[in-house]
Amino acid sequence: MSIATKTRVAILVSGRGSNMVSLIEAAGAPDFPAEIALVLANRPEAGGLARAAAAGIPARAIDHTAYPDRATFDAALDAELRAAGIELVCLAGFMRILSTGFVEAWAGRMLNIHPSLLPLFKGTHTHARALEAGVRLHGCTVHYVVPELDAGPIVAQAAVPVLAGDDPDSLAARVIVQEHRLYPAALALVAGGRARLEGGRVVFEAGTAPADGALLSL
Ligand code: GRF
Repeated sequence: MSIATKTRVAILVSGRGSNMVSLIEAAGAPDFPAEIALVLANRPEAGGLARAAAAGIPARAIDHTAYPDRATFDAALDAELRAAGIELVCLAGFMRILSTGFVEAWAGRMLNIHPSLLPLFKGTHTHARALEAGVRLHGCTVHYVVPELDAGPIVAQAAVPVLAGDDPDSLAARVIVQEHRLYPAALALVAGGRARLEGGRVVFEAGTAPADGALLSL
């Protein structure tokens, strides 16, 4: 695939950006169907900004505290994305709720990674809640973003075992390894046109096996 046909992707982060790094590294492969064209953070101190800049990716902070309300912040975000010709947005540890208007403007063109097997454990503290619930399998999900939090159509999931003696940190460490595999695989499916939205669900091109990235096993 030539450079010209690559989908232009922006990654939105709030923190350290380890998922962002996994996407940047995957996109370095010549045959990856997306290029990471921009990284934006809502916090100037986000570690992901320096990591993106070190990888040669344009990286900017749009400090949400400088905006009077959610709508004006989201408008600034939208303007940056459009100015950069972004076609697909990947949320990667972006810890700020986006307005319905923004989400609808990017409907079908925005992905998120969530550290649980959705629809279980939407929201925060997913690892502690998985332990509290006593589930034997936990994991992560890449999904399209819809206005309702962590509720959009699922592209791909990876599962890990919950082991005796796990605490939230040990479980998170096992999940994040899978996040770093899953998000690039899911982005490749979407950007390459092998996964697409149809009637509110994700459908796969005929011949795309789950092992191609939609499901990663233990
Ligand atoms: C990840 O666990 C992601 O699933 C969640 O926030 C965390 C971000 O980690 N949404 P990082 O910034 O990608 O390292």
